[in-house]
Amino acid sequence: MLLLVFAFILSTDVEALQVIGGNLTVVVGGTTTLPCKLINAKEPVTQISWRKEPQTDHFLTILSATGPQFINVPDKRFEFIGNFKDSNGSLRLSNIALTDEATYTCIFTLFPSGNVQTGIHLNLLVPPVTSLKDNSPTLGDEEISLVTCMAAGSKPPAKVQWLTGTLGEKVRTTTNVTQHANGTTTTVSTLFGVPTREINHHLVKCVVTGAAMSKEESLPFTIQIYFSPIEVIIIKRTKDSFECGTEANPNADFTWNRPEQTMPQSTVRVEGATLQFLSMTSDLNGLYQCEASNLYGKKHSYMYVHVTSGTCPACWTLFVLLLFMIAFGVAALWYSYKTGKFLRREEDTRGVRSKVLATSSSPAEEAAEAEPLRTEASL
Ligand SMILES: *[C@@H]1O[C@H](CO)[C@@H](O)[C@H](O)[C@H]1NC(C)=O
Ligand SMILES: *[C@@H]1O[C@H](CO)[C@@H](O)[C@H](O)[C@H]1NC(C)=O
Ligand SMILES: *[C@@H]1O[C@H](CO)[C@@H](O)[C@H](O)[C@H]1NC(C)=O
Ligand SMILES: *[C@@H]1O[C@H](CO)[C@@H](O)[C@H](O)[C@H]1NC(C)=O
Repeated sequence: MLLLVFAFILSTDVEALQVIGGNLTVVVGGTTTLPCKLINAKEPVTQISWRKEPQTDHFLTILSATGPQFINVPDKRFEFIGNFKDSNGSLRLSNIALTDEATYTCIFTLFPSGNVQTGIHLNLLVPPVTSLKDNSPTLGDEEISLVTCMAAGSKPPAKVQWLTGTLGEKVRTTTNVTQHANGTTTTVSTLFGVPTREINHHLVKCVVTGAAMSKEESLPFTIQIYFSPIEVIIIKRTKDSFECGTEANPNADFTWNRPEQTMPQSTVRVEGATLQFLSMTSDLNGLYQCEASNLYGKKHSYMYVHVTSGTCPACWTLFVLLLFMIAFGVAALWYSYKTGKFLRREEDTRGVRSKVLATSSSPAEEAAEAEPLRTEASL
């Protein structure tokens, strides 16, 4: 022992004793090595120990004889992967959590001179959880929030930007940053604009970037401006079928019915927006209603049908005598929807502005009359 001390004193002039560590930046959930190696030691190492700042106690000690030992509750995520004889005190830390962010001190105890140590700062990165929220704007003329992009729980804070393409000054953005107690940050950026049909279906992109992300994330979004059916149009498709159309977002559902009677099942087929007459009989005569509806409201149009038989029994002519539309406001719709009264009153007071277009039994004349019908249908 005396000899050892003597040898140490003799050799104090050579390369400095040093513990090599190094700071680390690691993504949460991963695994890393806390590097620690003693070089140029001229004395024997009696113990390697680890401390997590600001705690003053060791949490792990490594002795030549017994190997690594936890001082308090064992945290199996720390594993000694160094080599005692080689003065390598490296630890592997797996399943890294945000609470592992700290400075770890690696201490070599030399005999007889005492401790040499180094601090390894473990810096953690948390990639954000990105999401888009459609604020379901409905048609209007005042600026409202259209869509919100969120980068939640990021460390360091993520940057959230909107690429709005040709929308330019029709939209603006605001960004809000919230700091959490655990050191992460949530960045929320909202796109504002006047909800017009003009900006409907425009593609925008939310771009999230940050040090914790391996690459930028781009979240495309098609702006949706929601509105109830605008007007209902009935178009004659073939000589015996009619189609109902409207502009609405989301797309409208169509229902055909007869306000005064039930649909004759055997002679009429309804498929979505299409009304098809299977055979031309006088029981088809009367008023038909097509209603277009979506989440935001409904609207309907009427069509009056009159079937006449010509001289030839196989020939027939279908006349659309009347086609008009009644538009309801959403409030009135709900009223009518709930009570059924509004609708009925509307029918009772309806002035029948009917117009007989023509009567014909020849296919040629029938074709000729199809055009004005269509025009009228698209009023
Ligand atoms: C590690 O980070 C600390 C501050 O966190 C700094 O003082 C030290 O110089 C860094 N060490 C190395 C090796 O980069
Ligand atoms: C210490 O040990 C670790 C794990 O075996 C190894 O990866 C590292 O290279 C060693 N350090 C040095 C300086 O030899
Ligand atoms: C940012 O968020 C906070 C908390 O949710 C809220 O009180 C504040 O009004 C927001 N600021 C803006 C500019 O949206
Ligand atoms: C940090 O705190 C926020 C808010 O409490 C939470 O949503 C988030 O999950 C936390 N992050 C981590 C990595 O623990």
